Amino acid sequence: MAEESIEHSLQRKIGILTGGGDCPGLNAVIRGAVHRLIRHYQIRPVGIEDAFNGLMESPTRLKVLNLGNVSGILSMGGTILGTTNHGDPFGFPVQQKDGTIQLTDLSEKLKKNFDLSGLEGLICIGGDGTLSIAERLSREHQIPMVGVPKTIDNDVSQTDWTFGHHTAVQTATNCIDMLHSTAEAHDRIMVVEVMGRDAGHIAVAAGLAGGADVILIPEIPFQWEPVVQKIKRRKQYGRHFSIVVVAEGAKTQDGSSITQTLSPEQQAGRKVKLGGIGQWVAEKLSAATEMETRVTVLGHLQRGGSPTAFDRMLATAFGAKAADLAANGDWGRMVALKTPQVVSVPLLESIRTPRPVEPSSAWIQAARSVGISFGDAPTIVA
Ligand code: F6P
Repeated sequence: MAEESIEHSLQRKIGILTGGGDCPGLNAVIRGAVHRLIRHYQIRPVGIEDAFNGLMESPTRLKVLNLGNVSGILSMGGTILGTTNHGDPFGFPVQQKDGTIQLTDLSEKLKKNFDLSGLEGLICIGGDGTLSIAERLSREHQIPMVGVPKTIDNDVSQTDWTFGHHTAVQTATNCIDMLHSTAEAHDRIMVVEVMGRDAGHIAVAAGLAGGADVILIPEIPFQWEPVVQKIKRRKQYGRHFSIVVVAEGAKTQDGSSITQTLSPEQQAGRKVKLGGIGQWVAEKLSAATEMETRVTVLGHLQRGGSPTAFDRMLATAFGAKAADLAANGDWGRMVALKTPQVVSVPLLESIRTPRPVEPSSAWIQAARSVGISFGDAPTIVA
């Protein structure tokens, strides 16, 4: 059958949405799922705009997807469907007449709209937050769900990798590479704050790949003494600069995180916003070493840009696998990479526990073996 006639004859419909913070590779997943649904199953893919919001509003915001409108999106960052991290249907921020924001349960309304839409189920592309919402909607409202693990943070369990992480690490590594020359030229400590929420995967990977001297992550509590000692030893060996990579979720000595203050409107329905630990670390190190210190917060640069080849591959494979699960009615599952296979795991399992950095992992060992300090023990090698 010609491609045009396949598209005209599609009866069954499956929804696709992207939720939470964006990351490189979302469009590649959408494209992978759309191609598979249309070409292999003759199912009509329907995009839902701005995460679950497109199904909660009246009228709903649904967008028919076809081979034409996913053409050319493989290499694009962002998401053609839009996304939000303020869109929990069980606690949706609704502005009241007096201007205040109240978290309101709109899940019943979403369920009604879903039933009216004629969709068989939803492919939800998201991180732990979106996947938890998807699981709750399937449990409490019987909306059939398939999950696709997305996040630059790489903190979703049951999968070797989430897509988007590889690109974020590459971007952070490129930035660290660039900071090296200016750090060396000025004999400075350069503190680089990277994202990752409560996990240090980006910091470990980018720090290792970028040749950092110190990496500070939430999973390994650090003390000042080993960090300062590492920097001073480098000076003794004639290296008058140091690169310190800090995960945004790294904890201060009293075990707390540093967060940003948001307005009530910005805060409504979202997790705390981490950020600021880099500045705090820089001030402490500057005082302890008497070296000039500068901070670079990489921020949303890590979420932007074109996905790396690996993320495009992973995202395409995830999209196709999600389409297979949905088309075959294999609901309540999340696609996952168990290298070298793309498999499916129970959605519930994947959201039960996050995936922190394992302190005995090969990456941490490799970092330690080249003298990188995690601030947890005196450094012997400069
Ligand atoms: O989860 C992805 C992520 O980029 C985290 O690394 C970061 O803490 C958070 O999202 C930032 O969220 P926002 O885009 O709302 O500032």
